[in-house]
Amino acid sequence: MIKKVDASKLKVGMYISNFDRPWLETPFLFNKVMLKDDKQIEKVRKSCSYVYIDTDKGLDVQESESLADADKKIEHEMQETIQEALKREPPPEDKVAFHEEIKKAKKVHSETKEVIKNVMQDVRMGKSISSGDAKKVVDDMTESIMRNRDALLCLTQLKKRDEYTSFHSINVCVLCLAFGRHMGYQKHELRDMGIGALLHDVGKMKIPDEILNKEGKLTEDEFKIMKRHVIYSAEILSTSYGINQRALEIPLQHHERYNGTGYPKGLKGDEISMFGMLSSIIDVYDAITSNRVYHNGMPAHDALKRMYEWRGKDFQPILMERFIQCVGIYPFGTLVELDNSDIGIIISINRIHILRPKVLVIINGNKKPYGEQKVIDLTEKLPDKNYKLSIKNILDPIALNIDTQQYLKGKGLLYTTSS
Ligand SMILES: [Fe+2]
Repeated sequence: MIKKVDASKLKVGMYISNFDRPWLETPFLFNKVMLKDDKQIEKVRKSCSYVYIDTDKGLDVQESESLADADKKIEHEMQETIQEALKREPPPEDKVAFHEEIKKAKKVHSETKEVIKNVMQDVRMGKSISSGDAKKVVDDMTESIMRNRDALLCLTQLKKRDEYTSFHSINVCVLCLAFGRHMGYQKHELRDMGIGALLHDVGKMKIPDEILNKEGKLTEDEFKIMKRHVIYSAEILSTSYGINQRALEIPLQHHERYNGTGYPKGLKGDEISMFGMLSSIIDVYDAITSNRVYHNGMPAHDALKRMYEWRGKDFQPILMERFIQCVGIYPFGTLVELDNSDIGIIISINRIHILRPKVLVIINGNKKPYGEQKVIDLTEKLPDKNYKLSIKNILDPIALNIDTQQYLKGKGLLYTTSS
C-alpha cells in the first residue's frame, strides 16, 4: 500500500516510492529509494516535507493516512483557504470581454513566438540581442492583460514537447503579467516584469546541448553547469539596451527558494525580491505542467495542489495562495469529470465561485464523444436551488489519450502554431 508520510516520521527500512516534488528536483539519482541510513533520511528531509512510501516493499508507519485521504484533505484545505482569501481580496475586473480580446491575444502570442525564437538563435550564435522587438511584444501583451487577463492566460495551454524552452519563456511571461496585474502592479512595473520573464532563460542557449536536452537526471557536475544559465541570462540582459535592474531580478532569482535551498545565491525569505518570488512560483508551475520530450506534465490542478503543499518551504505562502486565485483552482484546459459522469474541459475561470467554472462537455457518461459539444456553466441551479452539476474528479488527458488542445482549437480558443 502506498502511504503519504511526513518526512519527520521516516525510518531506516522504509521504501520511498515517490517524493513530494518532481524527481528532477530531488537530490536522488532514482525516484524510488530504500532508506538505508540516517544520512539518507537527512537528505530527504532537507528537500521534502513529505514522501510516499510503499509498505509492501519496506517498513510501514503507524497512524499514517492513506494517500487518497491525505489528498482529499489537502484539496479541501486549499479550496477553503482560497475561498476565504477571495472574500478579503476580490480579484480585479476585466475591461473587455474574453471574446473581444482573444483575437488580439492570439496575434501578439504568435508574434512573441517569432521574437523569442530569433532572440534564442542570436544568443546561440554569440550575437548580442536586440531588445527592441522583445520590448514591443511585451508592451502589447501588457495591454492585452490589462484589458482581459484570461485571453492570454488561455493561450498558455499551447505547449509543444519539442519546443519547450520557447513556449516556457512565453508562458512564464504571460503568467507573470497576469499574476502581476492580480497583485495590483502598475503598467510600467508589468513591462519590467514582462521583459525579465520573457527572457529569463536565454542563458540556457549557452549551455551545451547534451546537458540542456539530456533525457533524465543530470549528474552533479552537469547540474553545476546547468545552474550557470541564470548568470548567463543576467549577463546577456544587462548588456542589452533598455533592460533595467528590476527586470534582471527575474533571470537572476527565479531558481531561488523561500527556505534558502535555491540557487545561485541561496537567498532566503525577504532576501528574495518580489519579482524573484513571483517568478519562482510561475517557473515551477509551468515546468511541472509541461510535457517534455522525456516526461509528461501533470494536470494543472494537481500541480497547484502540490505547490500549495510546498508553500512555506519553496514559496512565500501568501503569494502561493494569490497565484492560485489568479489562475483558478481549475485552470484553463483542465480535464474534469462531472457528477453525471460527463467529461469536459475548463474553458472559463470563475474567480468569485471558484469551484464553478464553465466546462466544454466533450464525452458523455457512456464514454461516447458528443457530436455537438456544449458549454455548461456550473453556477446553473435547479428549481430547488441546488446546483445542476458539479466537478467530481480531475482527469489526466495523457492517461485517457484525450487531446484537449485539439478540442479548444475547434472552438477557436487556441490557434495552430507553426514550428
Ligand atoms: Fe531557469
